Amino acid sequence: MNDTMQWAKGILDKLCQKAPESIRKAQKLSGIPYTVKKGEWAEGYGIDWWTNGFWPGLMWLLYRHNPNLLFRQEALRGEALLDKALQEFEKLHHDVGFMWLLSSGAHYALEGDKDSLRRLTLAGDLLAARYNPNGFIRAWNDNGDGSRAGWSIIDTMMNLPLLYAMSRLSNDARFKLMAIRHAEFAAKNFFKPDGSVYHIVIYDPESGKVVDTPAGQGCAPGSSWSRGQSWALYGYTLSAILSGKKEFLSCASRVADYFIAHTPEDRLVPVDFCQSPERPIIDNCANAIAASGLIELSEQFKDERPKDAERYLTFAIELLKALDSKCAVYDDSIPAVLPRCTGAYSDGHPEYPILYADFFYAEALLKLCGEKLLLWTMP
Ligand code: GLY
Repeated sequence: MNDTMQWAKGILDKLCQKAPESIRKAQKLSGIPYTVKKGEWAEGYGIDWWTNGFWPGLMWLLYRHNPNLLFRQEALRGEALLDKALQEFEKLHHDVGFMWLLSSGAHYALEGDKDSLRRLTLAGDLLAARYNPNGFIRAWNDNGDGSRAGWSIIDTMMNLPLLYAMSRLSNDARFKLMAIRHAEFAAKNFFKPDGSVYHIVIYDPESGKVVDTPAGQGCAPGSSWSRGQSWALYGYTLSAILSGKKEFLSCASRVADYFIAHTPEDRLVPVDFCQSPERPIIDNCANAIAASGLIELSEQFKDERPKDAERYLTFAIELLKALDSKCAVYDDSIPAVLPRCTGAYSDGHPEYPILYADFFYAEALLKLCGEKLLLWTMP
């Protein structure tokens, strides 16, 4: 085992040691953990909250490292809680990929559970139903007035694996074609000349013409929200793997190069790469997502672009080491591990734990241990 593997394994061991107390605290909730308040887990905004698949997903990752049955049971408990969100499907949004790929998709792929397959299929149909034939998946709902019918966000790139899975599971290319069209249309409309991406592009829903690119969760219109860059980097890498289209790897590497060039020396990623130095707030989620995405991108470039592959892997390890040495909490003082995440630049009280940072941290560390499990591409 090399030094990096040894180091990654050591952290995963700590995550697995911490998890039973964190699970005990999660079981006090009626829903699923999202953040931490006063040392206890707190839920998101309802069972349809977009991050609710990351908890069962994290449990599957930990179970892979350490086959403690508690982790599996907790993954199944989380998956079952999500059934209420499927029943109240009218509240759902484009993040159904996050919600069901990492819960039911993992359960089906790892154990062949047939109910999980049905949940996954329903979620996939809901995602496909959001497709606008101009070439984009509608992100969010409105109150029926159509005001968000043309809203597309870069985060959707990470939900496309559900559509690719749908085509594999049903032998029907329609879903995969929607995913490819969305990725191609976003490649045209989200990228700025410097390689970074907008968070939101608002299209005219009838013509598909770009109408606006508002600030979204970044600091200003036209700025470079760091988590959005990490969603793009990882999302385009996954689309390249799942579609076989090399041009998506170029999209991923453009945004990766921007990300690397703009990350400060201490490797703690700011909330927005364009933010003022007078408000130096950071987002641990962006570190962890980008690290996991870069490891995957590095894998894709191993044969054809070995120097880039090495560069991406080295940078991913630096991002993870910064989290480990400067941020992570491995004791039980809080149930989460990464405490300095930020939902949006406009947050009044930024830098708090957000569960999915822990998911991507664990995922990236598992990859460094040689684990090939990739929940995004499995079902
Ligand atoms: N997908 C929403 C976010 O990253 O905050």
